[in-house]
Amino acid sequence: MRIVLVGFMACGKTTIGQLLAARLKQRQIDLDEEIVAREGLAIPEIFSRFGEEHFRLSEHQALLDNIGQDAVITTGGGTPMRDDNAACLINSGAPVILLDAEISTIVDRIGNDRNRPIANKLDPAGLEKLKASRQSRYERVASLKIQTDQLRPEEICDQILDFC
Ligand code: S3P
Repeated sequence: MRIVLVGFMACGKTTIGQLLAARLKQRQIDLDEEIVAREGLAIPEIFSRFGEEHFRLSEHQALLDNIGQDAVITTGGGTPMRDDNAACLINSGAPVILLDAEISTIVDRIGNDRNRPIANKLDPAGLEKLKASRQSRYERVASLKIQTDQLRPEEICDQILDFC
């Protein structure tokens, strides 16, 4: 069974993806991890050495290479922003689930995490603006949106599995 998770940074894609994969006894493919493995560098180093454009190309390739896999596929927060990636997600035939959260939850979770170069250069207002600018795209590619703030991880998985 294929399931794709999308959403802004720190909305729980990777955590929920791991749980879902365990419940379904399936592989999880995390695009960020795929990129790190391909490049042999952590995400902040990819950004600082080669720039965001290079990261986005690598992300695009990782999406194309993995979208057909029978797995729980977790994307990066920026993955649906490229038009070709959005088309790939919409046409994948897999349920695409949007995990959403309040900006206060996101700001708390990101905290001092140095592994997110896009978030690291933004203050809370900047993060909120970026999320707002991306929101319609997330909603366009997804077939189900889950507001996660008040839910336990197991409940989020239940909702996803009920839908799929
Ligand atoms: C990004 C989100 C990150 C990662 C990269 C860029 C973004 O993934 O792909 O730092 O542009 O929103 P997460 O959503 O898993 O943090």
